[in-house]
Amino acid sequence: EWWADEAKLQTPEAKAIEEAAQLLRTSDIPVAFPTETVYGLGADATRSAAVQGIYRAKQRPSDNPLIVHVDSLDMLTRLLNPSSPTPSSPSSTKTPRIQIPEIYHPLVERFWPGPLTIILPNPSGSELAPEVTSSLTTFGVRMPKSPLARLLIHVADRPLAAPSANASTKPSPTTAQHVYHDLHGRIDLILDGGPSGVGVESTVVDGLCHPPAILRPGGIGLEELRSCPGWENVTLGYHDGTLDAKEIPRAPGMKYRHYSPKARVVLFESGSSVAGVARRVRKDLSDSAIGAHSIGIVRTRMWPQGLNLLPTDDLASCLRPVPSAIEHLQSFPVPGQEMGSPSSRTKLAYDYHLGSDTESIAHGLFAALRALDELETDVIYVEGIADGDGDLAAAVMNRLRKAAGAELKA
Ligand code: TXA
Ligand code: MG
Repeated sequence: EWWADEAKLQTPEAKAIEEAAQLLRTSDIPVAFPTETVYGLGADATRSAAVQGIYRAKQRPSDNPLIVHVDSLDMLTRLLNPSSPTPSSPSSTKTPRIQIPEIYHPLVERFWPGPLTIILPNPSGSELAPEVTSSLTTFGVRMPKSPLARLLIHVADRPLAAPSANASTKPSPTTAQHVYHDLHGRIDLILDGGPSGVGVESTVVDGLCHPPAILRPGGIGLEELRSCPGWENVTLGYHDGTLDAKEIPRAPGMKYRHYSPKARVVLFESGSSVAGVARRVRKDLSDSAIGAHSIGIVRTRMWPQGLNLLPTDDLASCLRPVPSAIEHLQSFPVPGQEMGSPSSRTKLAYDYHLGSDTESIAHGLFAALRALDELETDVIYVEGIADGDGDLAAAVMNRLRKAAGAELKA
């Protein structure tokens, strides 16, 4: 292990990890750290005061349980066996150690470390703070792929409870800057590991029920799960629409407003034509009741030039890209609008092309919503993609449908 090397322990990275680990052990204020899915807001999962600090920093409702992050199967086995005797103990009545249920073995072998969270029974005498599980008798756990995340857990020598490190209801953070934007003044340290690769959260699966179920679509797709023994008939235990008041979601987090920028999000389900999308945008821009002054379009397709989208010009050709560094932004007017009249502000449109492959779309989605929020857009129009059952595209559409709330547009 590289951290066993004395010279490397003197690097700024090692010092930052040591500082973060020290805070995790002693402070009740959580520490933000990168994972391969999104940035997490971590606290020692065994200390109530520390876990309460997460809910406080995020302003998260406390009936929404947290995912526990471990660095190794060894750490998880210790969690499952809180009062088990140490190997040197002379105890003669040795009870068998609790193991990860059989059903999960193929998943753990194949997808850990990685973006998969499994639901396990919380053992009696559990060391987990009750705030981690809310009132549930189970807990969710994953081993992140990010080496930095695992190293942090290893050095802290504690399982870390960690939700996404955004303010509650906001899009999840995929960079350290996103975390800073939402939580500065509320936390003391953010470990910056660069942009998260996957861009959407882990898939949450429940193998304790028959047949097993996906509780949240995410980084691991349905087909990959189905190819594992025991998971051929895995069901979808979530849905994207607004929930019935009387319906109790199986993953409690799925019932809250989520992933929402300040701007209103209008989602076009896949199959909408480019012309149809443009027509809707044009109509909204000219509708004073909607009062949109500044809009963003998040595209997942190439738009042909020359489509006559606005009365006087071509919307596709007047869109301007959103640069990744916002300070270099050039604003521009949408043609066909009155300019400079005292009653009407100049109307602006911003273009954000996510790319067309699902991985790029997942990777850039939350950053796009956040960038357009920084630009103070009133409405963000998003081109949806075809979601196969429970794959990465389903994770993308799940997040988008929640961001759009009831406003689903066909
Ligand atoms: O990728 C991820 O999973 C990220 C990174 C930071 O690891 N974490 C994350 O955590 O997304 P959070 O707290 O934002 O989402 C946790 C989800 C929620 O939908 C919650 O309801 C569900 O997992 N969950 C946690 N424990 C559960 C349990 N015992 N039973 C059912 N669902 C559970
Ligand atoms: Mg979250």
